[in-house]
Amino acid sequence: MRFPALRMRRMRRDAFSRALMREHSLQVTDLIMVAFVIEGEARCVAVPSMPSVARLSIDKLLELAGECVHLGIPALALFPVPEQKAKSDDAREAWQPDNLLHRAVHVLKARYPQLGLIGDVALDPYTTHGQDGLIDAGGEVMNDPTVEALVKMALAQAAAGIDMVAPSDMMDGRIGCIREALEKTGYPDTRILAYSAKYASVFYGPFRNAVGSAANLGSGGKYSYQMDVANSDEALREVELDLAEGADVVMVKPALSCLDVLRRVKDRFGTPTFVYQVSGEYAMLKAAAQQGFMDEKAMVLEALTACKRAGADAILSYYALDVARWLHEG
Ligand code: PBG
Repeated sequence: MRFPALRMRRMRRDAFSRALMREHSLQVTDLIMVAFVIEGEARCVAVPSMPSVARLSIDKLLELAGECVHLGIPALALFPVPEQKAKSDDAREAWQPDNLLHRAVHVLKARYPQLGLIGDVALDPYTTHGQDGLIDAGGEVMNDPTVEALVKMALAQAAAGIDMVAPSDMMDGRIGCIREALEKTGYPDTRILAYSAKYASVFYGPFRNAVGSAANLGSGGKYSYQMDVANSDEALREVELDLAEGADVVMVKPALSCLDVLRRVKDRFGTPTFVYQVSGEYAMLKAAAQQGFMDEKAMVLEALTACKRAGADAILSYYALDVARWLHEG
């Protein structure tokens, strides 16, 4: 069929036919809220590089969790911001049973057992140098000793009641080691969300400010473990390995600059695939909105709908609460 019998604009003409032929739609159940946790009580400490995002003490986090539950957001990804004195060269605070994250998990689970909790597994909040792993005398991030530490961290999170551990560190072999340890230690149901295709991206800058790893990291990059932005075949190899090692869900990160990778991963493997709209994406959208350059709601909904179209089953986003409210408004 060709023009004029075929007129593509016919179906676009009215809202009803646009709705009927819509291929993808963003739902509240696609969203995972992201939150930063700090010590203290009744504290909301703003993140300057992420306007409207705050680091919350556990009591305030509980309020945010309540909003997630109320709005129907299925899960919350937690990032602790430990105090400087909790940081060390060996990151041992990461597996202390009563550390900040684990205390938060106890409180959240007691109140909202239905809310899925996702724990970040990487050493950067706990290391004095801000790297995701343990370093040798020359500053090199050591793979195998780091994996041992990550296993301890994942087990401690599972013991604290985390539903899903999310290794975001990009060490080789960590998914297999964590899976094996979870099985052996009596946590066969703890899910693993693998940050499989995690790029060495400038878009993590505001996050590093939020968790306080930026200053510690200094000029040290993460190029020896996070992926080169120029590659996508490599992402498929990473995903394949993580799935073989026992990941339940794989993730691509960042989102908007990696939608092609997301589509390739989903097409190739057909497994649950999440995407992370990272801090820098949030900051860009927020800044443009604050300047009045574009409409915030329209921008964010377009960006997240594009993630769905590219194959995401769920999206981690600092905008999740706002988006859930917008979706409920209709
Ligand atoms: C660290 C970690 C980072 C993010 C999640 N976990 C930053 C990094 O790798 O330096 C980034 C999240 C964001 O930018 O929103 N393991």
